[in-house]
Amino acid sequence: PLVSMKDMLNKALDEKYAVGQFNINNLEWTQAILGAAEQEKSPVILGVSEGAARHMGGFKTVVMMVKGLLEDMKITVPVAIHLDHGSSYDKCIEAIEAGFTSVMIDASHHSIEENIETTKKVVDYAHTKDVSVEAEVGTVGGQEDDVIADGVVYADPKECDLLVKETGVDCFAPALGSVHGPYKGEPNLGYKEMEEVRDLTNVPLVLHGGTGIPTADIQKAISLGTSKINVNTECQLTFTAAVREVLKNDSEVYDPRKYIGPGRDAIKATVVGKMKEFGSTGKA
Ligand code: G3H
Ligand code: ZN
Repeated sequence: PLVSMKDMLNKALDEKYAVGQFNINNLEWTQAILGAAEQEKSPVILGVSEGAARHMGGFKTVVMMVKGLLEDMKITVPVAIHLDHGSSYDKCIEAIEAGFTSVMIDASHHSIEENIETTKKVVDYAHTKDVSVEAEVGTVGGQEDDVIADGVVYADPKECDLLVKETGVDCFAPALGSVHGPYKGEPNLGYKEMEEVRDLTNVPLVLHGGTGIPTADIQKAISLGTSKINVNTECQLTFTAAVREVLKNDSEVYDPRKYIGPGRDAIKATVVGKMKEFGSTGKA
């Protein structure tokens, strides 16, 4: 069923695993991720960036496509449709009105006062519709769609505490050294701050930039209260590699299903691997 992230993340926090947010780009992406979740009996969060929503036609198209697949694929596990890095109050409201069950308001590039003010406005509206809200403090490095950072700023635990207390967000992302896209070298996550933030806030924490983080770091982050891990680039890499392989070996192929199909299978395999790694397998 289509649900918000609230219960799935609180359960994950209690039982010490993480639910994956996997970003979608199109129909096949969504099929692959839902298929993996059903096979693994895992809850799942479909991440939709504003850019990806534009690519697919708009928020309404995304919601209707997901609803159609939930029925046709007979999906029984909990699924959330989540706006990833929502850029404004208005965008969050638009997504909620279209049927998204969860939104992220990313006002992390503003002052903490402004971040809190905008986040609180979104929470106040979203909670009247049973929609969950994620916020961010600090700066995740790298680039994802329209979200471009020119550096990594570690979240200040005191600001995190203030934001959570003032806004009532369901979960939030303290940026602690993670990066969107591939890492240049080993990630250097701020575990000390993560622990501090967990102790101060007691809400499920979100780790952005899940691609390329070694398993030991994933486990450590989960043990320190991380209950949601976002993965995008890794699915893009495996999809593209599989499609490229088909096209490289067959210069005659023109039926798109013949090369997109293997790409879809590759995403599914990647997502299944992440669910096992995050410990969400069997938790639906
Ligand atoms: O918001 C989405 C994620 O943080 C994805 O990061 O592309 O590095 O896996 P990634
Ligand atoms: Zn992100």
